[in-house]
Amino acid sequence: MKKFYITTPIYYPSNKLTLGNCYTTVLCDSIARFHRALGYDVFFLTGTDEHGQKIAKIASAKNMKEIDYLNEIVADTKKLWELLNISYDKFIRTTDDYHVKAVQKIFNKLYENGDIYKATYKGKYCVPCESFWSEEQLVDGKCPDCGREVIDADEECYFFKLSKYEDRLKKLYEEGRNFLLPESRANEMINNFFSKGLKDLCVSRKTVKWGIPVEFDKEQTIYVWVDALSNYISALGYLSDDDSLFKKFWPADVHVVGKEIVRFHSIIWPAILMSLGLPLPKLIFGHGWLIFNGGKLSKSKENEKKEVIDPRILSARYTSDAVRNFLIGEISFGQDGPYSQELFLNSFNGILANKVGNISSRLIGMICKYSDGVISSDIKTLPEDEIFINKIKELKQDSIEKIKQLKPTLSYKSALKIIDECNLYIDSNKPWEIVKQENGTIRVNTILYYACQAMLEAYSILDAFLPENICKVLKIFNIENVKIDENACCNFDIDNVKVEKIQPLFARLDIGKELQELDQIAND
Ligand code: ME8
Ligand code: MG
Repeated sequence: MKKFYITTPIYYPSNKLTLGNCYTTVLCDSIARFHRALGYDVFFLTGTDEHGQKIAKIASAKNMKEIDYLNEIVADTKKLWELLNISYDKFIRTTDDYHVKAVQKIFNKLYENGDIYKATYKGKYCVPCESFWSEEQLVDGKCPDCGREVIDADEECYFFKLSKYEDRLKKLYEEGRNFLLPESRANEMINNFFSKGLKDLCVSRKTVKWGIPVEFDKEQTIYVWVDALSNYISALGYLSDDDSLFKKFWPADVHVVGKEIVRFHSIIWPAILMSLGLPLPKLIFGHGWLIFNGGKLSKSKENEKKEVIDPRILSARYTSDAVRNFLIGEISFGQDGPYSQELFLNSFNGILANKVGNISSRLIGMICKYSDGVISSDIKTLPEDEIFINKIKELKQDSIEKIKQLKPTLSYKSALKIIDECNLYIDSNKPWEIVKQENGTIRVNTILYYACQAMLEAYSILDAFLPENICKVLKIFNIENVKIDENACCNFDIDNVKVEKIQPLFARLDIGKELQELDQIAND
């Protein structure tokens, strides 16, 4: 069986996750679901990144033990993923015992290989980002990632010999095997990092107590990136008593990450793996940002319009599929894209109400009206129907190809085009006229039959993207665990299925009214 291992980054614990934070997870979930439907044996990993100074600070300000504070946040995060129908196979916490043990063993191994040595670190440190920077990396003297003030760091720590792997890492990019996509990100790595030469990396801290202790030097804790990145293999049981999942699923097919952490995944992570003697992930995909009021962060500036960006509120009002539709359909995967309430609502009407929801209520309505609610197999296929089926098959194959190429936005759009074709087919065949003709029954049966087949092809794909609502219609046609057959098309077993009129899956919104109400919520 074909295997597919996909990961999100592990999230920094936060109880204020916004729509932007849901981006990676929703996209990965759709890719994972689609692969399951295609018959892949999928392992989809997500989790939380729980060590570091920042956590310790917040917990102490709340007068709480770190782990008690974290348990609350993690429960909250899991609830959000449930709300958004995230079908992860495993949720890893870096405070999990097995992870802590694996990271200590990994650190020991790197040390035994001669890739870790002790020295004094001098440089700059950004506390919120937990990133060390050299002077020349700073932008206007501030953190290049978040633009905030940095502090001086001068302490003993362990270094990882990143410089030793420079040539091998460079080759990864020169081989042109698309280790990092989109291509623009690979160019960024070459221009911003390789051109300056890779420096050894500080991988432990003396002053950060909330971290995994170095086994052979208990004064030091393992600094966040070796801890965090190792989750992708510790989750599979690497260096544990049971490493069967590791044997089965490593190397990962893809690590999906936001563009600001591409550097860690495409330079540091492969170097660690090289040192461990492990195969590299097949692909790193660096997606763009959802932009709120001109920035990645949700905090809107004074006097700028406040908007609802809480996925919980949006989900409760419009269903989780509305949130997913926006993230998948309106932001081209790999690029940045803006969010506004207006864009969100327009996308709801334009895609969900007018296309996705409309086709099933329209078609089922016609089956009720022109065929007594039964899909008849008494049909006669004409050449024009064959042309229609072929068109649907092309779009279906295109959608499958696009998901395999990790282009979920385009994959989604191809599935939506199946619905457009289906509407065109109905409009040009006009079953409402044929039904009035003498001997029109077989032709009407045929049109309804193929329109239904096409709709089900579209819905089988869309179920991966919109898992809350699409399944309700699939169920009417006795389709429960969607399996997508790559080679066949329009061969669902629907003969004599009985249907009853349904409410549209997504009722059209009155945008003006919704905007008013969302403004009210945002300003409350
Ligand atoms: O970086 N638009 O965790 P994180 C799109 N713990 N994606 C966004 C976004 C936005 N506005 N805001 C956040 C970390 N994200 C580390 C990872 S992995 C070994 C360690 C995405 O909670 C972000 O790009 O800051 C990243 O992919 C994910 O949310 C988690 O970010
Ligand atoms: Mg971040």
